[in-house]
Amino acid sequence: MDHFTYNNGTLCAEDVPLDAIAAEVGTPFYCYSSATIERHFRVFTEALQPLPATLCYSVKANSNLAVIRTMAEMGAGADVVSGGELIRALKAGVPPERIVFSGVGKSKEEIAQAIDAGISQINVESEPEIAAINEVAAARGTKAPIALRINPDIDAGSHDKISTGRSEDKFGIEWTRAHEVFTAAAALPNVVPMGLAMHIGSQLANLQPFRDAFVRLRDVAAMLKADGLEIQTLDLGGGLGIPYDGSTLPTPAEYGAMVKDIFADLDYRLLFEPGRVIVGNAGILVTRVLYIKEGATRRFVILDAAMNDLMRPALYGAHHEMVAVADPGQSPREPADVVGPICETGDAFGNGVSLPPLKAGDLLAIRTAGAYGAVMASMYNSRALVPEVLVKDSNFAVVRERLGIEELLSHEKMPGWLPQTTR
Ligand code: LLP
Repeated sequence: MDHFTYNNGTLCAEDVPLDAIAAEVGTPFYCYSSATIERHFRVFTEALQPLPATLCYSVKANSNLAVIRTMAEMGAGADVVSGGELIRALKAGVPPERIVFSGVGKSKEEIAQAIDAGISQINVESEPEIAAINEVAAARGTKAPIALRINPDIDAGSHDKISTGRSEDKFGIEWTRAHEVFTAAAALPNVVPMGLAMHIGSQLANLQPFRDAFVRLRDVAAMLKADGLEIQTLDLGGGLGIPYDGSTLPTPAEYGAMVKDIFADLDYRLLFEPGRVIVGNAGILVTRVLYIKEGATRRFVILDAAMNDLMRPALYGAHHEMVAVADPGQSPREPADVVGPICETGDAFGNGVSLPPLKAGDLLAIRTAGAYGAVMASMYNSRALVPEVLVKDSNFAVVRERLGIEELLSHEKMPGWLPQTTR
């Protein structure tokens, strides 16, 4: 469920017509709905009640400050994977005691940053990383809370590039070594192992891999506990998928029921790191048709948005639904290849897409673009970095401005051996 619906012939974000935003902001732009973010956050929270759960929103999905703050205002924690994301989460108002830091390659500077901020736990993924944390904490005369991310060797059944829980993936410590590594960590003077963590992948379309992985996590935790090791937190990661094409996927309520089935009555604080399921369909990319080109064998709708603005189709072959902003009603659909201006054949949002008649100047909305959209945008081809707009009821605000070529060039310098000015 989202809040992008037609009203008086125009697609609106909540109560704001998208053509009005386009007229003011220009295209392309991302548009997010506060009501949709809030609703998804609430639904996920309710699905886990009455478990002792902390929802650490996975900032990588959409790290706009205003988006994070919308959830921080509702009590969200944050899952961060870089020093930059940590700064964002803190700046957005997420309390440090609700922040977890994940990722296979944290630098010592990032570890120091996390310790100084007093975050809840650092999820560690290797023994050298534990040693590094111990060293950084020792230099600061403190102890760092850590959790062992274990690799359960379970295939999430998702896209190969976003499955993370198989033994051949770079993530986590193999589950069969959890006891050994936890025991060694517990003997170090400057780290405090708090618990275990897991994340087996993203855009999971069914619950069985979650169930298998969670049962494994529960059993490993029980084994460690039985040996007198103290396990306070279990971080179950994120990964619940969303429908990009109208298909039926497990709901947060079904996910919550499965989690309760496995973890109810156990004495752990549970952490969750959902990203996509909260913000995915709370965002759209609004773009304008530049040209309709009748090719030799295909019809092309050429947009002013490109793969640098939304990479998912080019990178994963991902499907995103596209709709006209002006309500096309029942007009007959025509197939077209929807492409951007970038000089690569891979710069396409869909081939043979069934669309209403479109002409140059028309606005199109690319749906379900709130997660892994703006965060993965680049300035490839020296295109502007796409702006972001947040809507609340009948108000909208530009929450990230369009960054153009001037900003880009202001960071580039001529080396001394080249003329400083053009002749
Ligand atoms: N926790 C960890 C440790 C993660 O690595 C991720 C996502 C999440 C939580 C959040 O997962 P979610 O609930 O959003 O599925 N760029 C890709 C997705 C990459 C996901 C990376 N990790 C895409 O566009 O599909």
